[in-house]
Order: sequence, then structure tokens, then C-alpha cells
Amino acid sequence: MELQSCVKIINEWDIVAVRQLGRNVAKELGFGTVDQARITTAISELARNIYLYAGQGEVCIVKEQLNGRNGLKIIAKDNGPGIADIRRVMEDGYTTSGGLGAGLPGVKRLMDEFDIKSKLNEGTEIIAVKWLR
Ligand SMILES: Nc1ncnc2c1ncn2[C@@H]1O[C@H](COP(=O)(O)OP(=O)(O)OP(=O)(O)O)[C@@H](O)[C@H]1O
Ligand SMILES: [Mg+2]
Repeated sequence: MELQSCVKIINEWDIVAVRQLGRNVAKELGFGTVDQARITTAISELARNIYLYAGQGEVCIVKEQLNGRNGLKIIAKDNGPGIADIRRVMEDGYTTSGGLGAGLPGVKRLMDEFDIKSKLNEGTEIIAVKWLR
């Protein structure tokens, strides 16, 4: 498996595809089933947000190595409308649909690192990392 693979998110099937890709990479890296579930939930949430709010975009799964540690990095990016108030969407309870993953705050909780960059009318890029323990 290459260090980075990306899936374009255009329709709902692409959400399933990138989730499966993420699970395979997580397994390859040696994550246990619980962390695999955390990672795939985070990927689904981010891919679903792209599909719902930006129309389309891309999710990349990256094998990350830093200071001898291995991890899995998710990069979710789109050129959609952007998020006006990032602080507000990161507050627990803001999420609308009440899905299992609890939206972006849920993704932050499930992963070890979380970074969001968004510009109105330009798009959104979210990077999240899970480190192997
Ligand atoms: N990629 C994106 N582009 C534009 N807006 C986004 C994007 N991702 C999230 N948002 C905005 O941020 C809000 C919060 O997202 P979040 O995923 O936390 O909750 P939700 O999608 O509303 O509900 P849930 O994920 O629980 O179903 C969304 O309602 C949407 O307005
Ligand atoms: Mg969401």
C-alpha cells in the first residue's frame, strides 16, 4: 500500500469506499479493532460532511511517521462554501442530525490530533491523526 491514497467524494458510495480504505490502512498499520472503529467513524463523518455541505471534495488516508511513531492521518478537503463560525460548530451539541459520531466534535474526540481550516466561499480542510500506541 502506498503512503497516501485519496478518494474523491462525489456520491454516497464514495463515503463507503473511503471508509473501507481507511479500515484497510488502519489494519495494515496494526491498529486494534476499537481504534479501527474510531478511525472509520471519523472518516465517515468527514466524508459525509463533504457530501452534504460542499457537494464534493476529497478524502486522503496517509500513513504517517513522526519521531519513530506510526499513525494514520485523514485529510478531508473541499472547495465548498466553508464554515462561517468554526468555534460554534466545535461546540458539543451544535450538530444537527445527532448521528453516532456526533459531528466534528466527535471526530476530534475519536482522533489524537485535529485541525480545521476553513474560509468562507473557498472551502474547508480538516486534518486528523490517530497515533499507534
Ligand atoms: N465540509 C464542510 N463544508 C461546509 N460546511 C460544513 C462542512 N462540514 C461541516 N460543515 C458545517 O458545520 C456544521 C457542523 O458539522 P457537524 O458534522 O459537526 O454536524 P452536522 O453535520 O450538522 O451533524 P452530524 O454530523 O451530527 O450529522 C454543519 O451543519 C455544516 O453547517
Ligand atoms: Mg456532520
